[in-house]
Amino acid sequence: MKQDLIVILDLGCPNNAQIARSVRALGVYSEIYPAGFSREQFGQLANVKGVILNGGKNRQVDGQTVQAPQWLLQSGLPCLAVDYAAPAAAMTLPQWPDSEEEIQAALRPFLFDVCQAAATWNMENFIADQIEAVRKQVGKEKVLLALSGGVDSSVVAALLLKAIGPQLQCVHVNHGLMRKGESEQVIRVFQQEMKANLLYIDASQRFLDKLAGVADPEQKRKIIGNEFIRVFEEAAANFTGISFLAQGTIYPDIVESGSGTGKSVKAHHNVGGLPEDMKFDLVEPLKFLFKDEVRACGLALGLPADMVYRQPFPGPGLGVRCLGAITAERLEAVREADAILREEFARAGLSGKVWQYFTVVPDLKSVGVKDGARSFEYPVILRAINTVDAMTATVEELEWPLLHTVCQRILNEVPHVNRVLYDISPKPPATIEWE
Ligand code: XMP
Repeated sequence: MKQDLIVILDLGCPNNAQIARSVRALGVYSEIYPAGFSREQFGQLANVKGVILNGGKNRQVDGQTVQAPQWLLQSGLPCLAVDYAAPAAAMTLPQWPDSEEEIQAALRPFLFDVCQAAATWNMENFIADQIEAVRKQVGKEKVLLALSGGVDSSVVAALLLKAIGPQLQCVHVNHGLMRKGESEQVIRVFQQEMKANLLYIDASQRFLDKLAGVADPEQKRKIIGNEFIRVFEEAAANFTGISFLAQGTIYPDIVESGSGTGKSVKAHHNVGGLPEDMKFDLVEPLKFLFKDEVRACGLALGLPADMVYRQPFPGPGLGVRCLGAITAERLEAVREADAILREEFARAGLSGKVWQYFTVVPDLKSVGVKDGARSFEYPVILRAINTVDAMTATVEELEWPLLHTVCQRILNEVPHVNRVLYDISPKPPATIEWE
């Protein structure tokens, strides 16, 4: 079943993504396109019911003045012109109202009276459509997926398993910088429960060897990123007859918005430096979904809630939380302490509430006493922050009893640690991570 579609044309309004979400919230599917969208590209879209000419201050996109194309204005499709002079428009709005409710109220008559769009967009229909599209795209060919266990790659895996099952080959690379139990969960959920073809590669030692003695954060990131691609490439070379690479690209990766500058839709390069000579076509079934829709999709596909609602985790993993040159000892300390923190957050009902929380182990020791003798061991730093866009962040004000419990457990259970600190610095001037 093909959904009715409302096209949002980016004519310099900074809130394209918000409007797209509001249209979808009313049950009508919507996509955002740049002002320079060609007639041919437009012709490829099915079931277009109407267009929102989303104007804004001075019609500026990336410093260029933009206009809606004449052919579109003359196409006879109903247009809603927002802060944009278009005589042919079926409706006009001087500007968008502030609240979501008012935006939806303004959209309703356009969507349902003028465009006569059907409110049939929901997750079940989306999944059904994507399954059909993937089957059509892939045919009998095989698809490779790097399954990190993050939200996006996990939802892609679940969706592709439904669509093409045994034609999907997943590869999970454990770089040794995963959180405690994370690789095990990937194997349990995808291999054991969902019966995916999953190649598990434990490359921990290889990464640790490469990182030995490297203290510079950016150098560490580079090594982890490059090594990851190398391991994945070697794994891919073992499979024959694979024509497609699946990716967890999501809509915000494609559409830049909400920045206040009215940036245009950009070409997306999420392939993260995969070698040019790997001739794969991309399968990106989530590329039109916003993050909350990706989560809803994951739940609808039967993924566990803790996988779908997991907090963001940086690609270099615990590598940037074990500060300076990584050692096995401090890596174990940061991983064990992180597991305790997560457990206690879950117990306190904070897991879904706090945006990001983790532990950090610096490369310094302090004096303490243990069992009546002098100790010289590492501290563990606790971090718990809230943010909307990760550009600025505030500190979650943890209750003393929780801090106390976490501290006691870390001191009792984690080897080589004799102090626990709580980082109360906002971003800026601090960053969220320590490296
Ligand atoms: P900072 O430390 O810059 O972090 O305030 C902002 C957000 O980005 C995450 N982060 C990373 N994510 N690769 C990633 O995929 C990285 O190298 C990286 N460094 C930071 C961080 O966890 C926070 O959510």
